[in-house]
Amino acid sequence: MRGLKGKYAVVTGAGKGIGYSIAQRYLEEGLSGVAVLDWDASLSTHAAEQLDPSGTRCIGLPCDVSDFQQSRNAIDSILAHFGRIDILVNNAGITRDAMFHKMEYSQWSEVIQVNLTGVFHLSRLVYPIMRTQKYGRIINIASTSAWGNIGQANYAASKAGILGFTKTLAMECGKLGITVNAIAPGCIETDMFRAVPNPVMDKLIAKIPMGHLGNAEDIAGTAAFLASDDAAFITGQCISVSGGMIML
Ligand code: CAA
Repeated sequence: MRGLKGKYAVVTGAGKGIGYSIAQRYLEEGLSGVAVLDWDASLSTHAAEQLDPSGTRCIGLPCDVSDFQQSRNAIDSILAHFGRIDILVNNAGITRDAMFHKMEYSQWSEVIQVNLTGVFHLSRLVYPIMRTQKYGRIINIASTSAWGNIGQANYAASKAGILGFTKTLAMECGKLGITVNAIAPGCIETDMFRAVPNPVMDKLIAKIPMGHLGNAEDIAGTAAFLASDDAAFITGQCISVSGGMIML
């Protein structure tokens, strides 16, 4: 895709799953550098080694995005290593599913802190860099659950929050050469989705017009598009990659 060669990206929660696939796709598209962040230090290191055995274009760093100081340390290290950040993909996310009448405060707060406050932390740190460069792409991984999903009041609230954040930041930086967009994955074959109990999984799959699960590469393709020059005039949008489960 146009405009990706030579760029530098940061992908959170990229030790495996969707984040890993996005990092892989970015390297395939010719980015000069991709930083793979994950709160599991061994996963981020291992992912970077797998993605780029030469160790020249990919670095793996530990980062719990819910912690501002850890996020700051990661961004400082990336700047020291690559000198620039063009693309930020806020992908890190967790689930703590429960019917609302059983949901504990800890399940609520952990999900909000990682999924939503984590987006604030990384964006707040990278945004000034993009403002100075007068160029940037922020891509936030939301979810079809933002429109509601039984057992996910916490997760849905965090993902709906991401959509409001995306639109507001897009309005604020529209004239600065920075675009901010979201992707709403539906049911994607990842460890997160495999943990859904079988009877519930069947109900979810029945809601997909295309009749099957998506895979991480489907999300990576959209993340490549939104980062490319082909999406230069797109901002404040959410693209649902869900086999039609959500039609915007
Ligand atoms: N759609 C329709 N019905 C659903 C449902 C759904 N999404 N989720 C749960 N239900 C139903 C159950 O089938 C069950 O129905 P019956 O009473 O008729 O049997 C009822 O709601 C209550 O559910 P449980 O009996 O499972 O209640 P529980 O307290 O034992 O478990 C739960 C609750 C932990 C939320 C469990 O249902 C669960 O894990 N559900 C999956 C939640 C989910 O969809 N997670 C998505 C993970 S993937 C992801 O989050 C990625 C993304 O971005 C989309």
